[in-house]
Amino acid sequence: MRIGQYEIKNRIFLAPMAGVTDQPFRRLCSHLGVGLTFSEMMSTNPDVWHTEKSKLRLAHHQEIGINAVQIAGSDPSEMAAAAKVNVAYGADIIDINMGCPAKKVNKKMAGSALLREPDLVAEILEAVVNAVDVPVTLKIRTGWDPEHRNCLQIAKIAEQAGISALTIHGRTRSCLFQGNAEYDSIKAVKEAVSMPVIANGDITSAEKAKAVLDYTQADGIMIGRGSYGRPWIFSEIGAFLEDGVQTVFPLEQKCQLMLKHIEDLHHFYGEEKGYRIARKHVAWYAEQLQPNSNFKRTFNALSSTVEQRQALEDFVTAILNESS
Ligand SMILES: Cc1cc2nc3c(=O)[nH]c(=O)nc-3n(C[C@H](O)[C@H](O)[C@H](O)COP(=O)(O)O)c2cc1C
Repeated sequence: MRIGQYEIKNRIFLAPMAGVTDQPFRRLCSHLGVGLTFSEMMSTNPDVWHTEKSKLRLAHHQEIGINAVQIAGSDPSEMAAAAKVNVAYGADIIDINMGCPAKKVNKKMAGSALLREPDLVAEILEAVVNAVDVPVTLKIRTGWDPEHRNCLQIAKIAEQAGISALTIHGRTRSCLFQGNAEYDSIKAVKEAVSMPVIANGDITSAEKAKAVLDYTQADGIMIGRGSYGRPWIFSEIGAFLEDGVQTVFPLEQKCQLMLKHIEDLHHFYGEEKGYRIARKHVAWYAEQLQPNSNFKRTFNALSSTVEQRQALEDFVTAILNESS
């Protein structure tokens, strides 16, 4: 599929997830076959860009492949300015977040709160599209609440404004993450617009990825939480979509990927921060590799990268010995 001038190598996308899809995770997922990753959301407020957190998010230059950078905000001129800055830092695609349900974001009338303001949505999209010469994409939910599912209206506004691709998470803002994602609205949008549509929500296996693509006829699927502690899901989906083959990633390779990922995290964040960030990822890996083990608790008590690496190596040795 194409997004503006870019040919995306397949139909598999990694969802932007603040606090999860940092550069090391995006690199890993790209390596495992994701066609396009999105950075964590950047605020449009330049006053916070000097913070360590923002600086790490701004580090676009070390990315591999196409850099899609997400911005969130509600002021059209601020959004346009933020888009320009991110392009100057190396963003190849600007993604606008109108899907985030977080109160902190919505209070400022940004994220999914914007879905209640179609006129403002149009203003923002036009301002950003006109400000940069890279493709601009949009990520939304299906509406504000089940009584106000207006994703079709927003999709048409987006197309009119020159948006290059639209991702839809199949829930409304008020549903937060409850219930099941619904794909009827995504299917309806896909039928009504001609820009690429990416279906998102609750895709946790290769079979589900194929079923959602078949049902919605979307151009691509995007995966968020389904990749926690199992980035190899992208490789499994790739093989299934390509040849209909169900593959199971070998245990030894899973272990090696985890070790490499955590080493990259330690390196990227440094000694002070690295061991803290590693904890949640290791908890997710442990859940996948050895459910119900005590390893997570033991690991969380460690407070240096050196200790963490040794513990992970011992964990891997034990798992592989058990399985042989
Ligand atoms: C921890 C977390 C952080 C998220 N951060 C963002 C974000 O920064 N921008 C955004 O557009 N969506 C964000 N999302 C929403 C995801 O991109 C995605 O739409 C949602 O998780 C549904 O997909 P899934 O069922 O595959 O997880 C976040 C979700 C989670 C769980």
